Amino acid sequence: MAYWLVILGKLQLAALILLVSSFLQQHFANGQPLQVPCFFIFGDSLSDNGNNNNLKTTANSNYQPYGIDFPKGRPTGRFTNAEELGFPEDSIPPYAKLATVGPVEKALKGVNYASGAAGILNESGRTRGDRIPMNEQLTNHQKTVSRIINKLGKKNATQLLNKCIYSVAIGTNDYINNYFLPQFYPASRIYTPSQYAEILLRKLSQQLRTLHRRKARKVVVYGLGLLGCIPYEVKMYGANISGCVDKINEAVMLFNNGLKSLVSDLNNNHTINATFIFINSTGISLTSSPGSITVSNAACCQVSEASAPQCIRSGKTCSNRTQYAFWDEAHPTEAAYSATAARAYRALLPTDSYPFDIQRLAQL
Ligand SMILES: *[C@@H]1O[C@H](CO)[C@@H](O)[C@H](O)[C@H]1NC(C)=O
Ligand SMILES: *[C@@H]1O[C@H](CO)[C@@H](O)[C@H](O)[C@H]1NC(C)=O
Ligand SMILES: *[C@@H]1O[C@H](CO)[C@@H](O)[C@H](O)[C@H]1NC(C)=O
Ligand SMILES: *[C@@H]1O[C@H](CO)[C@@H](O)[C@H](O)[C@H]1NC(C)=O
Ligand SMILES: *[C@@H]1O[C@H](CO)[C@@H](O)[C@H](O)[C@H]1NC(C)=O
Ligand SMILES: *[C@@H]1O[C@H](CO)[C@@H](O)[C@H](O)[C@H]1NC(C)=O
Ligand SMILES: *[C@@H]1O[C@H](CO)[C@@H](O)[C@H](O)[C@H]1NC(C)=O
Repeated sequence: MAYWLVILGKLQLAALILLVSSFLQQHFANGQPLQVPCFFIFGDSLSDNGNNNNLKTTANSNYQPYGIDFPKGRPTGRFTNAEELGFPEDSIPPYAKLATVGPVEKALKGVNYASGAAGILNESGRTRGDRIPMNEQLTNHQKTVSRIINKLGKKNATQLLNKCIYSVAIGTNDYINNYFLPQFYPASRIYTPSQYAEILLRKLSQQLRTLHRRKARKVVVYGLGLLGCIPYEVKMYGANISGCVDKINEAVMLFNNGLKSLVSDLNNNHTINATFIFINSTGISLTSSPGSITVSNAACCQVSEASAPQCIRSGKTCSNRTQYAFWDEAHPTEAAYSATAARAYRALLPTDSYPFDIQRLAQL
């Protein structure tokens, strides 16, 4: 397999989610009926659009050079330089902003609960500072649901919530900011990769069922990318012949395979009246063309020992961002993910999504 193919596996998801919401948005902008009325987002830094800005954490991105590609040239709290995704900055507000100042009307189109460094497990990402783990994101969502019910009445609120798409992209930090950080977390001494994947999946299964109890009926669950190819991990563990840390990719593969089975179980369970789909992020990135990307083993911004894996404040950036797969030492550039993001929405290969893609999910 060509080197860049392996490397592109690092493509992450935030991206995909942002692009998907831009697709949904475009349909709206074109005067066509909106495919779904609302979009709720759960996850980590790959989806965070500002929830970490006021937390005490190193996992935020509300400083230069993050946001360098945004129209106003300023950071917005998104981790990647993801400007071209095309939807207005405020279309899906971060919960942090909405909870304090937002009218409930803004929540009717969806809310973003994602938080940098967050994981499926409460403790994942703890060494990065404050963050909002998946359990707490679900608690925040419960608060939004209550407000929507107060506003619309139970019947109309349920009708609305049943039609929304719910995006869940979580688990990366349970590996890179937990299991594969043995100096701070005991997990890898206690559990084999297989046992650990099982623990994560059991927790995530409960979390997805909670979402279902909150009236979610259309749920997109993203598999993890090739986390062993992240420059920060390669720096820490050393590369195998693949250019990546094989043992990390192997551990993540166990999780991804299990996640697909979990989605299948949920869909086949008659007490759960919802449709879940699995997006094969790794598979999509392994089979997509690299476009202009030539640099996959280095960050595009200056990273110091203290700032790693993030850019240093006001540091230099590379001049040609479209040639880089990674923006900082952990988060992909727009160039890296936009090439494949579309396939989460409209599958190109049968392996891209299971049992079908987001476009079809939206039409149900
Ligand atoms: C994780 O945090 C939630 C609160 O968000 C709490 O209810 C739960 O008991 C915690 N789980 C563990 C295993 O500590
Ligand atoms: C619920 O929806 C119906 C039909 O769209 C509408 O007539 C009614 O006023 C709504 N109820 C509330 C409380 O908004
Ligand atoms: C990957 O590299 C590590 C460290 O050099 C080595 O111990 C391990 O056996 C290699 N794994 C594979 C699958 O080659
Ligand atoms: C279906 O889901 C219910 C409720 O979450 C659970 O108790 C049951 O074991 C599941 N059934 C199967 C066949 O997985
Ligand atoms: C399942 O959900 C669909 C769509 O939300 C709804 O039309 C149907 O009545 C539900 N069925 C049950 C058994 O709850
Ligand atoms: C993901 O896609 C690849 C092919 O692109 C396939 O080999 C792999 O089995 C798929 N993974 C899952 C969990 O479906
Ligand atoms: C930037 O990358 C593009 C696409 O690979 C290439 O056409 C262009 O010449 C590059 N520009 C610079 C300044 O390197």
